[in-house]
Amino acid sequence: MSGPETERQYDLFSREFKRDPYGTFAAMRREAPVHGHRAPDGTTIWYITRYEDAAAVLRDDFHFMKDVRQARPAEEGVAGTSRVAYQQLINENMLFSDPPDHTRLRALVSQAFAPRRVEEMAGRIEAMANELLDRVAAWEEMDLITEYALPLPLSVITEMLGVPAEDRERVCDWSQAIISPGSRGLNFSARKRKVRALVAYLRRMFVKRQRAAQDDLVTALVQAEEAGDRLAEEELFGMVALLLVTGHETTVNLIGNGALALLQHSEELARLRANPELMGAAVEELLRYDGPVESSTTRWAREDVRFRGHLIRRGEVVRVALASANRDAEQFAEADRLDVGRADNRHLAFGLGIHYCLGAPLARLEGRIALGTLFNRWPNLRLQVPAEELVWRSGVLFRGVKELPVAWGVGV
Ligand code: HEM
Repeated sequence: MSGPETERQYDLFSREFKRDPYGTFAAMRREAPVHGHRAPDGTTIWYITRYEDAAAVLRDDFHFMKDVRQARPAEEGVAGTSRVAYQQLINENMLFSDPPDHTRLRALVSQAFAPRRVEEMAGRIEAMANELLDRVAAWEEMDLITEYALPLPLSVITEMLGVPAEDRERVCDWSQAIISPGSRGLNFSARKRKVRALVAYLRRMFVKRQRAAQDDLVTALVQAEEAGDRLAEEELFGMVALLLVTGHETTVNLIGNGALALLQHSEELARLRANPELMGAAVEELLRYDGPVESSTTRWAREDVRFRGHLIRRGEVVRVALASANRDAEQFAEADRLDVGRADNRHLAFGLGIHYCLGAPLARLEGRIALGTLFNRWPNLRLQVPAEELVWRSGVLFRGVKELPVAWGVGV
């Protein structure tokens, strides 16, 4: 075996796949666990679907690197990844860097996201969750995504960064344009406008913090940038944009997919209600069972490398299908079953290796509080539409529904 397989193609982009990717992933794990998908432009994207292989790729940051400019030098051209100036600003971040830059950038913020620091925010997050539910309590029905799952993590991360409450909505709107354009249905120029607006806003914010320091993350980062050698100006933009996006675009789907899975598994929900001490394990299981990130961000082969008998050529793209690895029966007993008490749950929902999710402690805390508060307050919570009618967001990175209509009144 070598090179990409052209005879077998898997449907990885359709609406049907987004609704339920798990059957396709099971087939890939069985038939073509390292699958070279030939894109229409002739380039090859390698999909890694088994748990063991996924963990091996994520741990191997030498062969599978993040900075495309190192993997494909300028003279070779970097198809589809052109870095126009404003875009460059937001791409200069730890997730798209390799050591030593990655190590330096991550160290600048790792303290702020350490488990003990994050646990101190529990009371504040609980208050925010209750405020959001208070606001809609009289409605008796809502779109859970718009009213709760999105604003909660967004408020948390913007508050940590120091974005004032009155600016949060527009900052959210702009920052959503940063991630894959298709996933929010934006065309290229709309996306460009929004990213530009975000960059301009951040520029003003940095100046304000230089003049008057505050007790927030942006001030700490501006001070690191001013100190000179630890953070370049474009890296400052990249860092704040990365934290903004990762801070809410994923957790929204932990709350959304998590609530959906529990509503579809009433016995597991009842078990959780009867045993609230299972909440920590339940969040891990929800991350495994239907996690927010379908596929890792892009990795590039640094040099020609043989992987499980396949030749992955220098500069080719490698994607780790986290959602598939998390359903691999070789790793998880009854992998397709939701078990809120599952033990030894070493899922890959937060990735692995040097890019392991920086925000994992925060996401776990938000997930526990958001789902706990929601189901405690509204034991009657139920879906307002059949699950088959829910529309899943497009794009290869994230996994989540666009809207999740729910009701909680006593009358049906
Ligand atoms: C349930 C919610 C979340 C999930 C499932 C998740 C998942 C992930 C995954 C899979 C990666 C690695 C991607 C890769 O290797 O290609 C990652 C990286 C990252 N995440 Fe999260 N994330 C979540 C929430 C958060 C939050 C709340 C933050 C807070 C700011 C955050 C910040 C980051 C950062 C900064 C990185 C890059 C780390 C690095 O490159 O060293 N994430 N996340």
